[in-house]
Amino acid sequence: MPLTSSFKIIAMDGGAAVGKSSTSKGLAEQLKLMHVDTGAHYRTLTYALLAAGADAVLPESIPKVLKTVDLSTQIQGRSACLAINNLVPSDTEIRSPEVNANVSKFAAIPEVRQKLFAYQRSLADLALQQGYAGLIMEGRDIGSVIFPDADHRFFLYADEATRTARRAKEGQTDSIAARDQMDKSRKTAPLVCPEGATKIDTAPYTLEEVIEKIADPIIKGGQI
Ligand code: CDP
Repeated sequence: MPLTSSFKIIAMDGGAAVGKSSTSKGLAEQLKLMHVDTGAHYRTLTYALLAAGADAVLPESIPKVLKTVDLSTQIQGRSACLAINNLVPSDTEIRSPEVNANVSKFAAIPEVRQKLFAYQRSLADLALQQGYAGLIMEGRDIGSVIFPDADHRFFLYADEATRTARRAKEGQTDSIAARDQMDKSRKTAPLVCPEGATKIDTAPYTLEEVIEKIADPIIKGGQI
């Protein structure tokens, strides 16, 4: 983690379709941060593992396949995207019904999480080197495992009906409740509200209001 007083790390956690990505991207724009979607990391890795014939119900086959996977980064706008063997799969590829149905199964496998841990932490140094004011990283275990030392930690949530309606609007086939259940109950890095994180119910608010709720105190407190 970079040792400069002005560079800030914001951890944004929460379940499926609570609004993490839109909120994080909006905050990245407003606060001049690098944005990282770790859900996309797990989706990208799942896409590559499925293409290589790996099966989440046979976890003993995974380490061998993981050895053939090389991780690097491509910057798109303000977002740092994971490339596997130099390729960033398209959004359509990593949000397909097949990836939706498998991502939480692969994400529960300790070797899969281990493969991404050091890489995800190293993105703070990349953001600093590239001159960003800080890093905003979204996911399930950012404030609890990846950056428990983050400067700001948020946990977004919303009722299930709101979340299902949001996904339907995006035209996606996705069982968000089933994924949340798997993410909460796994042994390694389960989805939790990190201790001391600010909890925000996004259901009653517009995206702009949620961004304002988070950005205003940070800006007014001279935190960035
Ligand atoms: O977009 P949505 O919130 O539905 O999901 P996502 O953020 O794209 O994450 C997809 C899946 O990746 C989650 O359901 C988790 O199983 C896994 N994930 C994880 O285990 N840890 C993270 N830090 C981020 C995602």
